[in-house]
Amino acid sequence: MTRLSRGRFITIEGGEGTGKSTNVDRVRNVLEQRGFDVLTTREPGGTPLAEEIRSVLLEPRDEAVDPIAETMLIFAARAQHVAKVIEPALRVGRWVVCERFTDSTFAYQAGGRGVDADAVAQLADLAHPGVWPDLTLYLDAPPGAAMTRISTRSLDRFERERREFFERVRETYVARARDQSRIVLIDASRDLVSVQREIVRAVERFLSTHANP
Ligand SMILES: Nc1ncnc2c1ncn2[C@@H]1O[C@H](COP(=O)(O)OP(=O)(O)OP(=O)(O)O)[C@@H](O)[C@H]1O
Ligand SMILES: [Mg+2]
Repeated sequence: MTRLSRGRFITIEGGEGTGKSTNVDRVRNVLEQRGFDVLTTREPGGTPLAEEIRSVLLEPRDEAVDPIAETMLIFAARAQHVAKVIEPALRVGRWVVCERFTDSTFAYQAGGRGVDADAVAQLADLAHPGVWPDLTLYLDAPPGAAMTRISTRSLDRFERERREFFERVRETYVARARDQSRIVLIDASRDLVSVQREIVRAVERFLSTHANP
C-alpha cells in the first residue's frame, strides 16, 4: 500500500486590493498542471462558522472593536478552519492554497493595531499547533495604489482605516518577508501579467525543492 505524503500549505498575503483573490486560481493552475490535488480557501472564513465570524469582523459598526477581541475572533475562525478543512486536506495529501493566514494577523492586529506580537504568536500556537505555511506569496504594493483598484467596492471595516494603519501593515509584512525564507515578496504594483509571471516563477522554484512525490 502506498502511503500518501502530506500535502503542502501555500498562503497568499498582502494588503487590500493587491491581487490576492485574482491570483489564487493562477497558483491553483500551476499546481494542478503538476498533478497535485488542490484545495483553495480563504481567511477569515473557509467553513460556515468561520464565514459567519468573517461577517462579524468585516461589517462596519459604530461600536469601536477592541483589538484583542478582534484578534481572538480571527483566531476562533482560524482554529475552526484549520481543524475542519486545512489539516484534514493536508493529511490526505491535498495541497491547500489559502488567501490570508496568520501573517495577516501579525501585519494587521500586531503591526496595524498594536497587539503584542508575542501574544499573537501564542494564540497561533494554540489555534493551529504545527500547521504553518510551507510557502507564502506576499503581494506588496503601496496602500494608496492598491486601494484605488477596489475604490468602486463598498468598503469593509478594515478598508475604512486610515492611511497610517495600512503603512504599518505593509511595514510589518515587509519585515516578516525579510526575516523568513518561506515568504516570497512579489512586487504587486506592476501589471497583472508581470505579477503572475513572478508568482509562477516563485511556485516553480518552491516545487523544485519541496515537491517530493
Ligand atoms: N497587477 C494588477 N494590476 C492592475 N489591477 C489588478 C492587478 N491585480 C489585480 N488587479 C485588480 O484589482 C482589483 C483587486 O484585486 P483582488 O480582488 O484580487 O485583490 P485582493 O487582494 O483580493 O483584495 P481584497 O483585499 O479586497 O480581498 C481587481 O479588480 C483586480 O482585477
Ligand atoms: Mg480578495
